Amino acid sequence: MEYGFSLQLRSNRAILAPPCPSFSGRKCLLFPAKSSLKTGSQIHPLLSFSVDISNSTACKAVRSATSVETTEVTELNWDNLGFGLVPTDYMYVMKCSSDGIFTNGELKKFGPIELNPSAGVLNYGQGLFEGLKAYRKADGSILLFRPEENAMRMIDGAARMCMPAPTVEQFVDAVKMTVLANNRWVPPTGKGSLYVRPLLMGSGPVLGLAPAPEYTFLIFVSPVGNYFKEGLSPINLIVENEYHRATPGGTGGVKTIGNYASVLKAQKIAKEKGYSDVLYLDAVHKRYLEEVSSCNIFVVKGNVISTPEIKGTILPGITRKSIMDVAQGQGFQVEERAVSVEELLNADEVFCTGTAVVVSPVGSITYLGKRVEYGNSGVGVVSQQLYSALTSLQMGLAEDHLGWTVQLN
Ligand SMILES: Cc1ncc(COP(=O)(O)O)c(C=O)c1O
Repeated sequence: MEYGFSLQLRSNRAILAPPCPSFSGRKCLLFPAKSSLKTGSQIHPLLSFSVDISNSTACKAVRSATSVETTEVTELNWDNLGFGLVPTDYMYVMKCSSDGIFTNGELKKFGPIELNPSAGVLNYGQGLFEGLKAYRKADGSILLFRPEENAMRMIDGAARMCMPAPTVEQFVDAVKMTVLANNRWVPPTGKGSLYVRPLLMGSGPVLGLAPAPEYTFLIFVSPVGNYFKEGLSPINLIVENEYHRATPGGTGGVKTIGNYASVLKAQKIAKEKGYSDVLYLDAVHKRYLEEVSSCNIFVVKGNVISTPEIKGTILPGITRKSIMDVAQGQGFQVEERAVSVEELLNADEVFCTGTAVVVSPVGSITYLGKRVEYGNSGVGVVSQQLYSALTSLQMGLAEDHLGWTVQLN
């Protein structure tokens, strides 16, 4: 049964207009009533909602449907965005049992979720997350950057953590739907981006150590600015000699939640001493670079840009992979190999890459009490060049010959 009314978002609240009637059927298709369009609002043709009318008193927007109307104006100060959670309108939720088939994904109002105290994720850390960004172009449309890469990384991570995962198509569709439903939270062009955080967790109850019997895939979003308070100004890293982030055979190469809780202590100590973050060494030789808590590392010497190879202990960053291609395209020689701490200290330039940090120049490295500075504390030429090239692509300012961006509206 089809019913012509629109879902409007006002003052951070979803409003069904006109009021949901008391149907006795299961579902009705929700589509925008043209006459309800307000100035400054948009209809998103990619999105679709249906309304679960099985409960006549509580009309909930569920699953996917054909459009959602959101107002563009929020009261957020776009000039002061940092990297903190700003609650938005919708999150996406999709579940599956241990048969591994995710179905019935739905957009829900953003808010707390209910979990069994015995959930696998709470007791044994059976969880993964992803991170990607949506950028607003100058013409108002929205771009995602390589979302299928995040989907594939989640599938790889899920295999390592004995979890089923959504297919690439399910993942990308869910990301698109969540971003469009939260359109008004995508910062104006040049003011930041909408950070998209997909989660996969063992939500079913377990007591003995075992994979959970049920899984939840959830996506929430938040508008963000710079990850490091330094912005594009160089960050100061300390090489960690005691704590390790990952070990051979462990889970360092996947985005499992436990990898992050375990680096908090080293990061906290470093921050208390005034450093921006920690650079980890390999756990076997304590000599070769691994990565920073939440980003990959590159060293520049002349025309050669080197980064630690992927061998299970570092995360295969999507920004890392993209920067390697961009740098090669600009004539640099790019090497993936073991990079020693001595090379780091003798580098011309050092920078980090990641979705959150984009390309972050390193101003100094401290190792065993010795501090080495790069580029007279300014942004290195190579870092600046690669940052500009990548962000131009991500923001739709440069022609995307590589087909990395996905336009949403
Ligand atoms: C440990 C770690 N390394 C590297 C990265 C960078 O990966 P990406 O470029 O895909 O964001 C991240 C961020 O997700 C991370 O958490």
